[in-house]
Amino acid sequence: MASNYAGLLADKLELSGDRQQARQIRERLARAPVGLATAQDGARGISLDNLPVDGESRLHTVDVSQPTADAVPLVLPSAIEMRVREFLESVRHHDALSQAGASLANRLLVHGPPGTGKTQLARWLAAQLAVPLLTVRCDTLVSSLLGQTSRNLRRVFEYAEQRPCVLFLDEFDALGSARGNERDVGELQRVVIALLQNIDAMPDSTVLLASTNHDQLLDPAVWRRFSFRIPMPMPDAVMRELLWSQFLGSYAPKDLRMATLVGRSESVSGAVIEQVSLDAKRSAVLAGLPHVDEDELFRRLGLAMALMESVPLSTREAEINWLRRWDQKIFSLRTLAKLYKISLRHVTNITQEGSADGNKEDGKPLIEPE
Ligand SMILES: Nc1ncnc2c1ncn2[C@@H]1O[C@H](COP(=O)(O)OP(=O)(O)OP(=O)(O)O)[C@@H](O)[C@H]1O
Ligand SMILES: [Mg+2]
Repeated sequence: MASNYAGLLADKLELSGDRQQARQIRERLARAPVGLATAQDGARGISLDNLPVDGESRLHTVDVSQPTADAVPLVLPSAIEMRVREFLESVRHHDALSQAGASLANRLLVHGPPGTGKTQLARWLAAQLAVPLLTVRCDTLVSSLLGQTSRNLRRVFEYAEQRPCVLFLDEFDALGSARGNERDVGELQRVVIALLQNIDAMPDSTVLLASTNHDQLLDPAVWRRFSFRIPMPMPDAVMRELLWSQFLGSYAPKDLRMATLVGRSESVSGAVIEQVSLDAKRSAVLAGLPHVDEDELFRRLGLAMALMESVPLSTREAEINWLRRWDQKIFSLRTLAKLYKISLRHVTNITQEGSADGNKEDGKPLIEPE
């Protein structure tokens, strides 16, 4: 921290014309231990040249980004939001709290199913705190040469301790899986021990975040190190409505049947809602339309559901049949004919409903009299 601020001071002095002082400060910093010397770089204390690198693959083990508040929308249920804000306050007032002997370590573990906004929460927190987000790529970290991992881990923590930042261990289960894991027990044990040592050696004030969607795999000893633990649930109806509105934005159709959309997207994650919305928006833009077509939106949602349930849909016929089974009311034969730009007769053939419902739908004959 001190060298970070010294670097900033040198920059300011130079800007205001005091080159000599600035040079003296930089010379001192240059003589500081190697790790600290990088702190003079960049106004935000980020040095891209000196990111920790995996010894074997030479891949960076850390991503540095600086999320901004307006670019990171986050929808949380109110109880969870309260806990997130509590963590934020605890980080912001860490010094005062620790003077009063009431501080908790700035460590948060987020757990929950895939696509529920765990990574988004890390970005959001970094944005709120206005510090860089250092995301550890746990896949690279668990290097192919497993013996390297502990050393990689140490480098990452050292790097994070040199500057104000949020250190984020994403997909953390790759590192913190239970010590009794069948896979390569010895090596994983060593990794977990190294992890625990690194966490223990870290100042309480460094903000550490970890996310996992396999909370049951985490070693209880790892679990205990996090003073804050927040579950990210699948979105409930209220959240889904917010997510749909947010991701469709001004492209939402004027008379959108929101209640139906919310109902039909039950058990769908925020990530899927985002994906479906963006796909439908893209279709609208390419078709030169100012709004998303509602039927198209439901179609995309239906196809996403098939994917979630691992139903392979390799042909148009399979899609049509799936959608029809998924929701007969939304996907009337007419709607399907319109969506797939085929005749009503063709749709009836595909769904083989021609004889079953007397070739009729909504009381109108399917095959128009000549
Ligand atoms: N609660 C939410 N609020 C806002 N956006 C969300 C929410 N949940 C998901 N999203 C959107 O879905 C995308 C994926 O979310 P994110 O990457 O944060 O999920 P995750 O929980 O980290 O998933 P995984 O476990 O697969 O890593 C994000 O880009 C975000 O825009
Ligand atoms: Mg994630």
